[in-house]
This record gives sequence, C-alpha cells and structure tokens, in this order.
Amino acid sequence: MLRRQFLAAAAVAAALAGGLPAQAQQVAKVGLVLPMTGPFASTGRQIEAAARLYIAQHGDTVAGRKIELLVRDDTGTPDVTRRLTQELVVNEKVSFLGGFGLTPLAYAAAPIATQGKVPAIVMAAATSAITEQSPFFVRTSFTLPQATVVMADWAAKNGVKKMMSLVSDYGPGIDAEKSFKDRFTAAGGESVGELRVPLRNPDFAPFLQRVVDAKPDALFVFVPSGVGAQFMKQFVERGLDKSGVKLLATGDVTDDDILNDMGDAALGVITSHHYAAAHQSPENKAFVDAFRKASNARPNFMAVGGWDGMHVIYEALKKTGGSTDGTALLDAMKGMSWTSPRGPVQIDAATREMVQNIYIRKVEKVEDELHNVEFATFEAVKDPTKAAKGG
Ligand code: DHB
Repeated sequence: MLRRQFLAAAAVAAALAGGLPAQAQQVAKVGLVLPMTGPFASTGRQIEAAARLYIAQHGDTVAGRKIELLVRDDTGTPDVTRRLTQELVVNEKVSFLGGFGLTPLAYAAAPIATQGKVPAIVMAAATSAITEQSPFFVRTSFTLPQATVVMADWAAKNGVKKMMSLVSDYGPGIDAEKSFKDRFTAAGGESVGELRVPLRNPDFAPFLQRVVDAKPDALFVFVPSGVGAQFMKQFVERGLDKSGVKLLATGDVTDDDILNDMGDAALGVITSHHYAAAHQSPENKAFVDAFRKASNARPNFMAVGGWDGMHVIYEALKKTGGSTDGTALLDAMKGMSWTSPRGPVQIDAATREMVQNIYIRKVEKVEDELHNVEFATFEAVKDPTKAAKGG
C-alpha cells in the first residue's frame, strides 16, 4: 500500500517537475477514413495534406495530449468505410473520427460513431441529411442546399428565365437539384428539365444533347470534386460553350484541384461555394502558401474542410482540458466560431453544421492560372433545410 502510494506520488512529482499535467504524454488518436485510391482519391489527398499541415503548424501536442493521426483508405467503398471505422474505434480506441469523402461513406460510419460515442468530423461529404444520421457528427465542409440557394437567387436576379439542371444521381446531387428548382421557381423562374447522371464513370454526352435540344438560358450543374474536368470536356465537345447556354454550378465543378487543367473553356463559368484558393484574406494567403510549399499543390475546398476539422479537434481538446470524453468534446464543438481560410465560420450548436459565407465566383485568369475569383458574398449562410432548427 505504502509502496503504491509512493509510486503514485513519484509519478505526479515527475510530471510536475516537467511542468506538465499528470496526463502528459497521453495520446489522442484521430482516425481519418478517406478515399486515398480510386476515382475520388483527390479528396483524400487534399484532406490528409491539410490535416498534416495543421499539425505541423500547431504542434502535435494539445492540452497535454499527443495527437496521433491515423489515415485509412476506404477506396470510396461504403463497406470498407464501415470496417475501417469499426477497427479505428474498437482496436485503436480513437478519440476522434474524421474524413468521409462521399455521402454514402458518411452514412456507413454514422452508427459506429453513435455507438462508440466518438465525435466524427465530416470534412467532405455534403448531403444535408448526413448530420441527422448521428448526434456525434459535426461538419466542417458545407451542404449542397447551402451553396445552391445562393446560386439560384443570383440566377433569378441576373436575367436567367429558363433553366435546366444536371446533377450526379445521388444524395448531394438530389439536394442540389431540389434546392435549385425550389428556389429558382419561387423567384418566378422556370425549370425545363432535370437531368441525373450516374455517379460512377459518367458519360455526359447524351444528357448534354438534351440541353442542346432544349436551349435553356442556363444550365445548373453539380458533380462531386474531381469529376468536373470530364464534364467540362464533354460540354465543350458538344459545342455548348459556344451555344449561348450559360453555365452555372456549385464550386464542386470548378474544383481548385483540377480547374487549371480544364483549359480556357472554363473561363467565365459562374459558381457558388464556401471556398476558393483565390479568396482574399491574410489567413487564406498563409494557408495557400504553406499548402503549396508542403504539397506542391493548390488547396481546394476539401483541404479547407480538413484544416478546419483539425482546428475543431484541437480547440475542443483545449476546452475539455485534454479530456477525451466524447460527449464533452461534442459539447465543446457546438457553437465554436473562428476565422477559417474561407472566412468567418461557426458551428451551429443546434444542427452541428457550418454557418459560413457563400461566395459567387467567376472563373478568370490570374497570373496565367485559372481561378475562381469571388465577386459577391452572402454572409453567414445556414443550411436552409435546417434553418428553422438553428440557434
Ligand atoms: C460529396 C462529394 C464531393 O466530392 C463533393 O464535392 C460534394 C459532395 C458527397 O458525396 O457528399
């Protein structure tokens, strides 16, 4: 008994001598589940690079906990996401989950986060209903309705009368299609066709032919990150860039990771989104410069979701004094606000969604590179499908 007391006292004394709390050297594991290979690998690459950059810049110890980042490749397959998330919770005993590159992958992880009471940061996937699948989800990306209603308002106010939409046929595409149509028609516009294209290996040509035939004033498009290049290629091959049909989209289509390789056909495309690498602020300049230096690449909106996800994790640990109790961490995240590279943001305490600026942007050449140049700002936009819930 005495010996045990002595050893305990010695341990405390040793910790104090080092100027560290008693829980120093304890680890907090962060398990990121991401598509690192397969058609959506750019999402995984961008998020991992941003998370590693955040740790490099802020140190790997926070509130006495050493942060250990574990990255797992789910290849974009929900069954793999489920298995890897389970392993991270049960075997690795992670304190945080994060990543989730596509909506079906976030859905696959939801029950595991809930059962394990592990805060899970959705850094990429953007279907509105995701955060309702687990009370342990907190989102640092965006929702499609949030970005889309702003584009619909802009179209209605800028002379567009007759619209068509073209979306990838799954959660975020359906969200985009519905929120665009509802908002645009409520403002007096007309929708003359809604096209849904398969998510995997899409061939846009037959759908674009229908756009050629219908001749709307504008075509509104959502495809997920990485797919925009294929869309633009076929848009040009069909001659639509010279047809007078205006191209409007969410920023997923002119993704900064691939925009510069799309060629001049992308010039003038108008999009709405929460992040552009060309966003003008000191925080973003520092972020883009450091990201380029570390990864030799331009960060896209996935990277900023990963960066802010790490910020939420660090700040939550500070607030709990290093406690990794899942419920305490989640409470610490609710209502958190900070200045992101994208602009001012807040986690809505009621919905666990980002409240953030949505920018209208136009593809322009800046110093010989294609960029999404912001020209209008809609401030502090909430997910409109949950606005009634928000605080
Ligand atoms: C989703 C994936 C994306 O790459 C994107 O840009 C938007 C949404 C998704 O699957 O939720």
